[in-house]
This record gives sequence, structure tokens and C-alpha cells, in this order.
Amino acid sequence: MEPNRISTRFVVLLVVGTLIVSTAAEYVRPPPGRVILTEHDKPASHPQQVHLSVVGANHMRVSWITDAKHGHSVVEYGRASGNYTTSATGEHTSYRYYLYSSGKIHHVTIGPLDPDAVYYYRCGMVGDEFTLKTPPAALPIELALTGDLGQTEWTASTLAHVSKTDYDMLLVPGDLAYADTQQPLWDTFGRFVQEHASRRPWMVTEGNHEVEAGMALPGLPGPFVAYTTRWRMPHEESGSTSALYYSFDAAGGAVHVVMLGSYAAFNSTSDPWLVVLLHAPWYNTNAAHAGEGEAMRKAMERLLYEARVDVVFSGHVHAYERFARIYDNEANPCGPVHITIGDGGNREGLAFEEASFGHGRLSVVNATAARWAWHRNDDADSTVRDELWLESLAANGACSGDDVPGRQIPTTAANAVDYSATAAAFSSRLLPNRLEPLQNGWVGE
Ligand SMILES: *[C@@H]1O[C@H](CO)[C@@H](O)[C@H](O)[C@H]1NC(C)=O
Ligand SMILES: *[C@@H]1O[C@H](CO)[C@@H](O)[C@H](O)[C@H]1NC(C)=O
Ligand SMILES: *[C@@H]1O[C@H](CO)[C@@H](O)[C@H](O)[C@H]1NC(C)=O
Repeated sequence: MEPNRISTRFVVLLVVGTLIVSTAAEYVRPPPGRVILTEHDKPASHPQQVHLSVVGANHMRVSWITDAKHGHSVVEYGRASGNYTTSATGEHTSYRYYLYSSGKIHHVTIGPLDPDAVYYYRCGMVGDEFTLKTPPAALPIELALTGDLGQTEWTASTLAHVSKTDYDMLLVPGDLAYADTQQPLWDTFGRFVQEHASRRPWMVTEGNHEVEAGMALPGLPGPFVAYTTRWRMPHEESGSTSALYYSFDAAGGAVHVVMLGSYAAFNSTSDPWLVVLLHAPWYNTNAAHAGEGEAMRKAMERLLYEARVDVVFSGHVHAYERFARIYDNEANPCGPVHITIGDGGNREGLAFEEASFGHGRLSVVNATAARWAWHRNDDADSTVRDELWLESLAANGACSGDDVPGRQIPTTAANAVDYSATAAAFSSRLLPNRLEPLQNGWVGE
């Protein structure tokens, strides 16, 4: 296929607010990248689109696709190259989307695995050997974050920058392939990210570009079919009844990551760092997206506040923004820091005039300190443009005690508000992309 050519648009970041953290006002973003369509150039039986996710404390799910229907759902693995001392068998599935039929989608859980260890593995008993490193069982842990990926030249450079410095896990707050119902784009995306997603776990949640809802008629694809079938995340293992939200522990429970799609019921009886990812930001200065996260904010902000969530990461708006600790639209030292990182490199930014491309790093050093850094793509280089140390709210005595409700959130069905109706309303409003330009963008607190 001939790669799509994307027209060029520039934006100068406007700065509002009182504190300016970076020199972003002078930054002129480079033209959007060309879409890269990654073909499969191996036999139909060869595994492709290999990616990893964590399942529980010491297991990982290996997911891949074979065009051939007879591929085995088996992963062989071991601590030395070519010496596969263990194997695991999993399951496979597939889906149809109108005239499109997916390949055979395999999901195999391997483990128990040693923490912070390199393993060599092969999928389906044929094809290439891959190498993975498991996350550490204790702090410190290095979490890389980028949202709104797509499959463009800029996505490629963002991921190259992410890989340049080692990390333990990539967190993606939604908008992966930008397939937008064109199912082969899920396959090109899977191949595009394999180099990275086969090496480190990718923990993702869905954005509006994953909805792909057909008409609500029997036999027609429902929303999120491709996303939930291909990018299976540990929702059952986390006690979630929906593939659209889940949570998991990292670093032996020292960090608890909550992936919200619609609504996540979660529960924390310990004092970990609480990190939440969702797609549409609750706080953002982009007029084109004003209010999109508001219904969800109203429904859930108090819950997150009372749980003493440390950081809320979102995507959707194609810019980088960071807000100081905030709750209910007011500065609050016990509220979460809100960070929008919807700048992975997708093409949709054209519609919104993106402010920059890049990725973020949350290095959780110990129970009280984490360093956040946002790296902007500057051609071949990655430049730190925003950086700060965060103190865990669990460690902040002023945010605990009898006068605040504390961090324990019961996981009960009664607590779980079904947000899917609102999500569906969003999807009808957001697809096709809205075309309002970015009016304000800022970096700072
Ligand atoms: C493969 O690994 C096992 C377990 O570590 C080891 O005992 C064995 O000697 C290795 N075999 C080869 C051929 O290296
Ligand atoms: C946590 O790490 C920070 C930054 O390195 C350090 O200043 C602090 O003393 C550490 N705290 C503990 C409890 O180790
Ligand atoms: C949290 O979940 C655990 C395991 O399901 C449960 O035993 C505990 O009671 C829950 N705590 C709260 C506060 O709901």
C-alpha cells in the first residue's frame, strides 16, 4: 500500500497561567509524520504482532497473531537464548468486523517468572526468538508513558526515544492504532510496535479511537471488539468485570496502577503510589476538547480524591500539559497531579494542532519520592522539557488522618457506575475527528 501523505500544519504553543515550566512558547512543532504501514513479510504461519502485558505479580501474557489458522498457542521460554526450558499453552480467538476476518489471535500466560530478569522466548513453536525483561518486584521502577500513538514517523521516533533509556513498563492511556474501523490498520500497528512491545510489557487502556462501534444490530460488531480481542489486559485477574477497565500492582504492590476506561472500582488496603490512566482528560486547556472529560470527572473525581490518587495520566488532547495538585477545579495539596501526554505521534493531531510529540517517565524511586520527566522529540533527540519530583500522598501526613476519608475504596458492584453509555455518546461525537483548532495550550502549573 502507498503510505498516506499527510499535509503539514504548525502550531506555536500559547502559554497561559502564571508559572511557565518550559520554553515551549518558542517551540514550533515539526510537520506531522508520514503514516508507516508495516507489512508482514514472513510465511503466514509465522507469529506477528507479538506483545506483552503483565498478569499478576510474576506472570506475563504473550499475545500474537498468525495468518495461518493452524498456529499453536504455545510459548517456549528460558533464561538462555535458544534453550527453552519451559513452555506454556494458552488460548486463541478471532473476530469478524463486517467483511474483515482477523487472523488467529493467541494469548498465552507464562510464568512464574523471576523479577527483573531476561527471558528468551518463541511463539507458536516457529519463527523468531524474542527477548523480554520482567519488571522488578520492588522499587525503584521506571514507568514510561505515552498516549495517542498512531503509526507515523513520529510514533517511530517517540518509541525509539522511549527505548533509548531502559524502562520496565510502558503505560498507554488510549488511542493505539487509529484504525478507526479499518481493521487492517490494527495489523499494521501490531507489526509496527512489535519491536518494542515484545520486549517490555505494554499496559494500555482504550481511547475513543478504539470504540469502532458499528450499528447496534444483532450480528454486527459491538464497540471495542478489535481492541479487547487483540490487546487483552488483566481485567479478570484484577477483579474487573469489564475488559475496559482494570488495575494492577507494580513493584510488588508499591505502585498501584488503575486503568480507567469507563469506570474502575478498585480497592487499596495498603499505601502504594496510586497512578490512574484514563483517556479524555478531566483538566485541560484545549478549547476543542473542553468538557469532554467533565461527565466522568463529576462521576469519579471524589472517589479518586478520597483514594488519594497521586497522579492521573490522560491522553486524547494532543499536547503535553501538567496541572498542580487539584480537586474539584481548585488547587488542593491532597488532590492528584493531572498530566496529559497525548503526544505519542498519531496523525489525528492535525485536526487539533498538536503542541508537540514526546513521552514521559515516572521513576518511582521509593515509597515517598518519584521523579516525573517529560521528554519532547527534537528530531533525532529527546529533550527533557518538564521535570519535577513528586511526594506520595500516602507519605504526606496532612493528607491522611481522621478528617479525611482515607485511601480505602471498596470494590463493590454497587460502587461501579456503568459509564459505557457516556462512552458511546462520546464516540458518536468524536468520530469522525472534530476539527476545531487548539486555542490554548500550556505547560506549567
Ligand atoms: C539449558 O538450561 C538448563 C537450565 O538452566 C541447563 O541445565 C542446560 O545445561 C542448558 N542447556 C544448554 C544446551 O545450554
Ligand atoms: C526517597 O528518595 C528520595 C530521592 O532520592 C530521597 O531524598 C529520600 O530520602 C528517599 N526516602 C526514603 C525513605 O528512602
Ligand atoms: C479489598 O479487596 C480485598 C480482596 O478482594 C478484600 O478482602 C478487602 O476486604 C477489600 N477492602 C475493602 C476496604 O473493600
